[in-house]
Amino acid sequence: MMRQSLVVGNWKMNGTRSSSELLAKDIIAGLGSNGADIAVCVPYVYLSAISEIIKNTSLALGAQNVADKSSGAYTGEISAAMLGEFNCKYAIVGHSERRSYYGDTNESVAARFCQAQEKVIIPILCVGETLEQREQDQTFAVIDAQLSAVISLAGIEAFNNAVIAYEPVWAIGTGKTATDDQAQEVHHYIRQDIAAKDQAIADKIQILYGGSVKADNAKGLFAMADIDGGLIGGASLDAESFLKIYHSV
Ligand code: 13P
Repeated sequence: MMRQSLVVGNWKMNGTRSSSELLAKDIIAGLGSNGADIAVCVPYVYLSAISEIIKNTSLALGAQNVADKSSGAYTGEISAAMLGEFNCKYAIVGHSERRSYYGDTNESVAARFCQAQEKVIIPILCVGETLEQREQDQTFAVIDAQLSAVISLAGIEAFNNAVIAYEPVWAIGTGKTATDDQAQEVHHYIRQDIAAKDQAIADKIQILYGGSVKADNAKGLFAMADIDGGLIGGASLDAESFLKIYHSV
């Protein structure tokens, strides 16, 4: 089955307002007529500025997280309804940096996933194992638990409107990419895990790879059967390298 490809930039906590605006403009200038989907997940405070710049272009907007509650006394949090006001198409949930530095759990990630969907924002659910977990042969068990928490709260049907990103923690920002085969093995596992509950959803869901994707390794990764695109950190901060990755999909 041919799935629509998707390349997403995760700018993390980088840039200034003006450098972000310039980056968005440079990306738009190089989009060309590639049929794949493309988005940038920008810092919350730049959503407003970037949403103006990308109007009427094929570059979509995303946030890097979303609150696990809909509104109320949750100082510092940003709700899905707020993201919706800036035409956010996507919100990343469960990024490993949120899980490891800010205490996001499988359960709170599941709640964030549901909050996004309630406002018709597509969650990009990140899953992935640490190096220690991989070395102890726990990769599949960890990913299964990360997926199961969301499936049990949201239901498998929710994956009709979701994206999954496999990001091995040991490959993020380290320059160590999973090999094409290592990544494909886990992507295949994820698709089988979903297929066990719903084959049609498994066939159609986009599963992105993330972790040190660069212009020179993207093509090989994207050629694998179950890899439908990428979630790009460092290399998405440079328009030329991000566009090269996009045009490799
Ligand atoms: P890098 O591409 O910098 O390794 O980051 C990957 C990532 O975490 C994207 O969400």
